[in-house]
Amino acid sequence: MALPDYCIAPARSDDAASLSHIHAESLGSGWSEQEFSRLLCDPATVGLNACSAGPESAMLGFVLARAAADEAEILALAVTGKARCQGVARALVERLCAELATRGAAALYLEVAEDNHAARALYGRLGFRRAGKRENYYHGPRTGQSRDAFILRLDLTAS
Ligand SMILES: CC(C)(COP(=O)(O)OP(=O)(O)OC[C@H]1O[C@@H](n2cnc3c(N)ncnc32)[C@H](O)[C@@H]1OP(=O)(O)O)[C@@H](O)C(=O)NCCC(=O)NCCS
Repeated sequence: MALPDYCIAPARSDDAASLSHIHAESLGSGWSEQEFSRLLCDPATVGLNACSAGPESAMLGFVLARAAADEAEILALAVTGKARCQGVARALVERLCAELATRGAAALYLEVAEDNHAARALYGRLGFRRAGKRENYYHGPRTGQSRDAFILRLDLTAS
């Protein structure tokens, strides 16, 4: 499949509305524009977005992480429905890892729902390994049903 024509750039505070929109669309419920704005203004946050190229550029996805000392954590990752399965999330996370490594992070963590097969496949492909489990961590926005979360870890010093 041909790669979509897009570029990856640092997310800025005025991207907050777009990030909030994609987050809500992807997860069924999401953080508000104000929450994204606050996170993007925090110097510990590393945010990247993927935007389609061309005059009517639109945001296709984003990743947000927080770095502290030599560890970092992915806070959110989402790609719009139409842009999925074209390598956008992989490109975002690979670029994020490069950015975090230059900041001195040695390990990257995240939590993923046990039934989020697309995300688990993505992280597995990127080399994340299971580091723990949180029981009943997620509560479905629509059903209220609880699901476990796996804690995944990627060694950023390996490559
Ligand atoms: C998970 C998500 C970010 C993946 O985005 P994406 O841009 O479609 O992913 P990519 O195209 O970069 O896929 C990279 C790899 O992930 C895996 N993958 C992605 N989507 C998949 C799917 N639906 N089923 C199975 N594997 C999938 C594949 O292994 C793929 O590698 P390959 O193309 O070499 O086979 C996207 O589905 C999404 O936004 N989901 C809703 C929000 C979410 O769950 N975020 C993660 C929270 S932890």
